[in-house]
Amino acid sequence: MSGPDAARARPGRNDPCWCGSGQKYKKCHLDADSRGALQASPVRVARRPLAPGIVSPRRAVPPAVVRPDYAATGRPRGQGRDVKTPEQLERLRRACRAAARVLRIAGESVRPGITTDALDELAHAETIRLGAYPSPLNYRGYPKSICTSVNEVICHGIPDSRPLADGDIVNLDITVYLDGMHGDCSATFLVGEVDAGGRKLVQVARECLEKGISAVRPGRPISDIGRVVEAHASRHGFGVVRSYCGHGIGETFHTQLQIAHHYDPSMRRVMEPGMTFTIEPMITEGTWEDLLWDDGWTAVTADGKRSAQFEHTLAVTEDGAEILTVE
Ligand code: MF3
Ligand code: CO
Ligand code: CO
Repeated sequence: MSGPDAARARPGRNDPCWCGSGQKYKKCHLDADSRGALQASPVRVARRPLAPGIVSPRRAVPPAVVRPDYAATGRPRGQGRDVKTPEQLERLRRACRAAARVLRIAGESVRPGITTDALDELAHAETIRLGAYPSPLNYRGYPKSICTSVNEVICHGIPDSRPLADGDIVNLDITVYLDGMHGDCSATFLVGEVDAGGRKLVQVARECLEKGISAVRPGRPISDIGRVVEAHASRHGFGVVRSYCGHGIGETFHTQLQIAHHYDPSMRRVMEPGMTFTIEPMITEGTWEDLLWDDGWTAVTADGKRSAQFEHTLAVTEDGAEILTVE
């Protein structure tokens, strides 16, 4: 045996301590050694904080694709009604189905080494192939076609030149505009081998969306959704982001209607059949508080711990919810 890290034979309780202090072992290092100081510990590598990469030039959309009102100016105008007619719902279903398909296809390409820009390119191409417009592109000036939120990024991460690393988690948020409607969904994917804490976070975030959906019921206040989401997250010791909410959706990407994912009793508006909105809880390993990068978009956790998110677009039915962002 040699070197300070090699497993050492421990002295008897009343023998002199191995450290040379002259004290009895029981008075000196016995407690520390019993806590595992002598056990070989596997090398654990700290996760680097995320840093911005290079953002590629804006991708083109063929002139034949019908665009939302903000595509040229960056400024959305319209305010659609939150309760939809059957005809509007049918168009929204088509947009949502396309969004779900793009999310699946981009998600299938997530692996260590692929850049988030390459995922943006893939999603952009598939969106256009479906005859749709990638809703984020130039929405309030947003530069890319999807959002890619890695590790401590809560939401609105901008795709760039950074390759995904083994052990990352990444949320892909896809919104497409088709048939005059926006369909919005997202999911968090594991990149290679993710540690147990990360896998748990992603699983609980998925469950939080499921719980939120199960709280959708006509006649009940919107605040029911955040109540069940927050209860589930806190049961697992996780936080719920407050600065970003679900939203009414349809002809308009984000209507005035907000869906908090924490319990906010002031959200008294009652759910009605035909109402359409997203639920998209952002669940954190540590604090729920957020910070904004100076790119004006990237929202990160204030403590640098990870955040995971899942999102669906839904319609309130006579007795619950219809999930629209499915294939
Ligand atoms: N899809 C996001 C949401 O769930 C919004 C992205 S807006 C963008 O509401 F401009 F960042 F793309
Ligand atoms: Co949304
Ligand atoms: Co979204």
